[in-house]
Amino acid sequence: MSGIPHDHYEPKSNIEKWLDARLPIVGLIYGTIMIPTPKNLNWMWIWGIVLAFCLVLQLITGIVLAMHYTPHVDMAFDSVEHIMRDVNAGWAMRYMHMNGASLFFAAVYLHIFRGLYYGSYKAPREITWIIGMLIYLAMMATAFMGYVLPWGQMSFWGATVITGLFGAIPGIGEALQTWLLGGPAVDNATLNRFFSLHYLIPFVIAALVAVHIWAFHTTGNGNPSGVEVRRGSKEEAKKDTVPFWPYYVIKDLLALVVILIIFTAIIGFMPNFLGHPDNYIQANPLVTPAHIVPEWFFLPFYAILRAFTADVMIVQITSFITGGIIDAKFFGVLAMFGSIAVMALVPWLDTSSVRSGKYRPMFKYWYWLFIIDFFVLMWCGAMPAEPPYSLISLYASYYWFGYFLIILPLLGVLEKPLPVPETIEADFDAHYPPKDADASAAK
Ligand code: HEM
Repeated sequence: MSGIPHDHYEPKSNIEKWLDARLPIVGLIYGTIMIPTPKNLNWMWIWGIVLAFCLVLQLITGIVLAMHYTPHVDMAFDSVEHIMRDVNAGWAMRYMHMNGASLFFAAVYLHIFRGLYYGSYKAPREITWIIGMLIYLAMMATAFMGYVLPWGQMSFWGATVITGLFGAIPGIGEALQTWLLGGPAVDNATLNRFFSLHYLIPFVIAALVAVHIWAFHTTGNGNPSGVEVRRGSKEEAKKDTVPFWPYYVIKDLLALVVILIIFTAIIGFMPNFLGHPDNYIQANPLVTPAHIVPEWFFLPFYAILRAFTADVMIVQITSFITGGIIDAKFFGVLAMFGSIAVMALVPWLDTSSVRSGKYRPMFKYWYWLFIIDFFVLMWCGAMPAEPPYSLISLYASYYWFGYFLIILPLLGVLEKPLPVPETIEADFDAHYPPKDADASAAK
């Protein structure tokens, strides 16, 4: 696919020409910030920039924290207290990093749900979507390992439960778990490698983000109408787009300022609201907390993991067919990873010829039910694994899989979409009628 036709950087002075012939970096930056962007983007297109901000915030605060943190089971907990009490602005760095992770996940869920509503994953943006999914997995791994570092009770027991899942893999499970932990249980070797990887993976995420941006700069941004920018000529493309600078830079900055006002209020007034009090008790392998609860952003998947107990029929059937190789525990692990896999495959599961959910009357209901389902799962994940929560988790898990594997493929066949605007310009004009049209309407 050819790119959107637009103006290119032309070096003018001799110095510019000299540099451009050797390293065309100014042209690259110009092409990136002046990229023609659909002029009808709504507020759900701000999350990409918020995510980029979160990544930088986590890298900077994390590097400062690492200067004062000690990855040793006897000192980790105290070194975090040292950061909080003795290091200049250490408390601010830690609270920004802790709550920054929550902001990062809140933004990524909004970014993903935006994509799921407007069909941003559809051709030709499948690779942008898949890279996004890889980023999301890397974010989960980083957040999981980061939570272990303060070496509190939840750090230790969360790590024990989650790494225990690998033990459920038939045959190789136990050996794999020991290899991952660096020993038979979560201990000093585990803490050390988690620290090392927690530092490393964010840079892998940064590289993936560069590829993500490269991919959607190649296809051009999507937009709420789901109609592509016209590419016949530069003049036509100009009618559908505005340059990213200054229009969207200013819009995104405004959104970022509002979000940061809320973020700083949380850091100042309720920095531990999203945390668990047990993590202010040093890790003790001899005392299991009453309820082991992961952080809020893992809860929906934790609920799916726990939903498939040995008394569930599908688990019993699978166990029977596989001769017991897939037992309830392994089934839960497969369901948890499977729930993310089906989301990654959505570009091929959604069969509708219309991209944007705005013009899909039936899809809308199922979509909003899916969003409710996500929050129901989140709530169940925070509750004890007992009735009625276990049953609610099970049905909510069924809906999650049903949405991707049955509803989306069927809707493409059964649904009659509404008429889609011919061009982005037409969609834009329908919302903001041109001035002369206002005047003639007034007459
Ligand atoms: C560190 C994490 C991420 C960063 C920094 C990031 C950044 C961005 C940016 C700047 C955009 C363009 C503006 C916008 O659409 O908001 C974008 C678009 C997109 N992102 Fe992400 N993203 C991240 C994670 C994800 C994830 C986890 C997914 C989901 C799988 C995803 C899927 C997409 C898609 C499909 C688009 C194209 C949207 C369109 O053009 O309509 N991204 N991303």
